[in-house]
Amino acid sequence: MSTLKERIDKTIANVADFPKPGIQYKDITPLFLDSELSNEIVDAFVEKAKGKIDAVCGIESRGFLYGIQIAQKLGVPFILVRKAGKLPPPTVSQSYDLEYGQATIEVNETYIKDGMRILVHDDVLATGGTAEACAKLVEKCGGKVTQFSFIVNLEFLNGIDKLIPFTEDIVALTAY
Ligand code: PRP
Ligand code: MG
Repeated sequence: MSTLKERIDKTIANVADFPKPGIQYKDITPLFLDSELSNEIVDAFVEKAKGKIDAVCGIESRGFLYGIQIAQKLGVPFILVRKAGKLPPPTVSQSYDLEYGQATIEVNETYIKDGMRILVHDDVLATGGTAEACAKLVEKCGGKVTQFSFIVNLEFLNGIDKLIPFTEDIVALTAY
């Protein structure tokens, strides 16, 4: 019987030279073709977060997919963190660096209550810029990040270094 990590690793597709030559792209979309595996992934995240969080912040777009399921199973609110200009006011914004240029994400500032313990969830941790920006949004709203969770950590990019200042509770179901 293979472990959950082994089954995730077997299912994620490696795509050479996407989106640019020399990049080995990890395509997580085959996970969603397998409902049994997806249920086990959600259960694994739920097990890690149980009793520790009051709400889940899912980062657009791939952080929505399992993020809302984790929240539903834990019986806590799911809060959409969206790319700039998609959410109506009142919002709070945070910009972060991309390889070329900058991006901005936003959240409705009334959804995160003072002292709320937040799980920041996304599919992939790469450089950590996106998850760090989300954690800054949580703090701007008065919340506290008590866990980060990802399907995949691209360890060689050291994204974890940006997240440790918020919490050391960082879950990744697999890493490369
Ligand atoms: C990807 C991925 C993470 C982020 C990780 O999202 O889904 O959200 O990049 O990168 P980082 O750790 O270097 O910040 P992307 O912005 O491509 O958008 P998508 O989820 O809407 O596809
Ligand atoms: Mg994303």
